[in-house]
Amino acid sequence: MDTNAFFEQAPDHFHGDPAHTEPIDPWWDELKADVTGFTSSNELAMLNLAAKLLPEDEAYLEIGTFKGRSMCATVRGNESKTFYAMENFLEFGMAGIEARTELMQNLEKYAVDADVRLLEGDCFKLMADPKLIDKPVGVYFYDGEHTFVAHFLSLAVVEPLLADEALILVDDATWPVVHRAHQKYLAKNPEWTIVEKWDAKVDNDPMWANGLHALKFVRTEPSKLTTSHELLRKYQVHVQSRINRLAWKLGAKFPRVMKTIERIVLAGSRAVK
Ligand SMILES: C[S@@+](CC[C@H](N)C(=O)[O-])C[C@H]1O[C@@H](n2cnc3c(N)ncnc32)[C@H](O)[C@@H]1O
Repeated sequence: MDTNAFFEQAPDHFHGDPAHTEPIDPWWDELKADVTGFTSSNELAMLNLAAKLLPEDEAYLEIGTFKGRSMCATVRGNESKTFYAMENFLEFGMAGIEARTELMQNLEKYAVDADVRLLEGDCFKLMADPKLIDKPVGVYFYDGEHTFVAHFLSLAVVEPLLADEALILVDDATWPVVHRAHQKYLAKNPEWTIVEKWDAKVDNDPMWANGLHALKFVRTEPSKLTTSHELLRKYQVHVQSRINRLAWKLGAKFPRVMKTIERIVLAGSRAVK
């Protein structure tokens, strides 16, 4: 993936500086109005451009598809490319079948001619299988769980799957928890750089939701998950995912109590300041 082309061409799709202006194409707003989701029109325009510049022999990988808003935007006009979507249908109290049905309906409407391969399950388990994705990943969009460990692992675990040069787009990146995870991973991995930060000015900013950061990866030596990263991945897959499942179940049963606990626990890590 020619990441420089992405950074050079991005401003052409906006009225001015993407940080402060909206995309030229009004279609992203229409999609946003039709498909329930969390990504903003500015983000959708960026995802679509990334897919446009993706070479045919590389794959696009999205983590956290929910009801398909971001994927429906990504594939538009890019139907010849290969798209993978990983989703465990866990968050937002989603009853798996209900959310999956809505996702499928949206893909049927907006992505019927596109090659979208839905991989259902925990992304940290799925990404550890080197054979699951049949091409190097040239564009990676992470919009899954937003904890420190998840964001750290979202870079570590994907690295072996990435093309020699890859673009990484991370949602909700204005949140301090994402900064901290990126800083920690990038400090020991100089093949990664943060190139653009389209930050949110307020929570759920109309332009950038909770922020989108664009990172670049350029491989200089073979990538391998270290032993400590593999242990952390196992913790996430076998322990943390069970805690998350329980928390979402309790959230459905005791919404007020769990919302209060969530507000207290996450106040510092997920606020746009
Ligand atoms: C913010 S939503 C994604 C929003 C979507 N990209 C959009 O445009 O509206 C986050 C999604 O990530 C999923 N998710 C969270 N942790 C995950 C995991 N470990 N593996 C796969 N999906 C996960 C959740 O079920 C949820 O649907």
